[in-house]
Amino acid sequence: MKEKVDVLISEEQILKRTKEIADELNKHFKSLDDGRDIVLVCILKGSVMFFSELAKRLDIPVEMDFVICSSYGDSTTPGALKIQKDMDISAEGKHILLIEDIVDTGRTLKRLIEYLNAKNPASLTLCTLLDKPDRREYPVQADHVGFVVPDKFVVGFGLDYAQRYRNLPYIGVLSFIEQA
Ligand code: IMP
Ligand code: MG
Repeated sequence: MKEKVDVLISEEQILKRTKEIADELNKHFKSLDDGRDIVLVCILKGSVMFFSELAKRLDIPVEMDFVICSSYGDSTTPGALKIQKDMDISAEGKHILLIEDIVDTGRTLKRLIEYLNAKNPASLTLCTLLDKPDRREYPVQADHVGFVVPDKFVVGFGLDYAQRYRNLPYIGVLSFIEQA
């Protein structure tokens, strides 16, 4: 099978929308002005590009941290969360800005949000580059969404298929072509 990627969201569109989200976050945290630390948390690996582009457009002081996690389970139970790498910075009393690549079934994020909330942050804000609501199994709603995408497998701008395509500067739909 040959793989094919068709552009769905261009790099220009992504960067324009990222700037809009950064502006909303700048405004919100400046208006809070409560002296609490703000920690940007990148969910590796898929969020790496969105995390970097968003971070560059924030003009408020932020710290950065990284988590690696996966979840087991199915449509009836979210299952256990496996944290391969936890936050290094203490989340207690801080504003946590969780940066995700895509909310699909919501399984991983539901568990991760519960896990991070148990650390008693001052607030937890979820920003996702993509939202695929058609496949949602758990009620996860991001506070900031870059783009709503159809129920297709998308790659690029951090998102992978079998660890490939993460470096594409755009979001594309992956399809497989039968070879004669
Ligand atoms: P969940 O189903 O919401 O728990 O999504 C778990 C993870 O699956 C996401 O954070 C992505 O890393 C990955 N994922 C979901 N949909 C796609 C897709 O269309 N392309 C690439 N990765 C995806
Ligand atoms: Mg992910």
